[in-house]
Amino acid sequence: MKKISPSILSADFTKLSKELADLEAAGADYLHVDVMDGRFVPNITIGPFIVEALRRGTRLPLDVHLMIEEPERYIADFAKAGASIITVHAEATRHLHKVVQAIKEHGAKAGVSLNPATPVSALEDIAADVDLVLIMSVNPGFSGQGFIPGALRKIKAARALIKGVGRPIELEVDGGIKTSNIAEAGAAGADVFVSGSGILGAQDYKKTIAAMRQALG
Ligand code: DX5
Ligand code: ZN
Repeated sequence: MKKISPSILSADFTKLSKELADLEAAGADYLHVDVMDGRFVPNITIGPFIVEALRRGTRLPLDVHLMIEEPERYIADFAKAGASIITVHAEATRHLHKVVQAIKEHGAKAGVSLNPATPVSALEDIAADVDLVLIMSVNPGFSGQGFIPGALRKIKAARALIKGVGRPIELEVDGGIKTSNIAEAGAAGADVFVSGSGILGAQDYKKTIAAMRQALG
């Protein structure tokens, strides 16, 4: 089944619990949580303290995207805060295999993400250990950027790699996903779609998510 993962980064944080309730009622499958450290990416956003509050505020699985240097330093904290999936960047650690094992040992699902210029081949020797692959379709750091078309080719290549592994691995795409382009990402092989401004920038979350599902067919 195709899953929609709205990014809380585009929410109005003065009314966070209403935003969570609205996204849940709108039919979101996951809640995407963008964690940025001001080092791996220029922006600074959410830490384990807020993830813990989000955990209390929604029943949706928390899809935590760590855009931080040396994510190994914080796996235990985000797992304890209630992350369901913890995704780290291949570019952010020297010890990707070790980090992936640590995520699983802490009881979360493990994801690995690739920046736009990182080839899918970087996943070859880790794919069998992960639960999710995340292809970035923008340079991470900010919501509201345009989809980089080259991501479609990478999604196709990642789908082929996953097929070769032969066990279920979710293929997520993140950045610039809207109702108007979600079908292309789906046709390329993605099955989890992150959308920040595409959903939370719309008047009606429920209609927008329904339109995305319809576009996916
Ligand atoms: C970008 C983040 C994305 C972002 C998505 O660094 O990882 O998850 O919030 O926002 P949109 O959908 O607006 O590109
Ligand atoms: Zn993200």
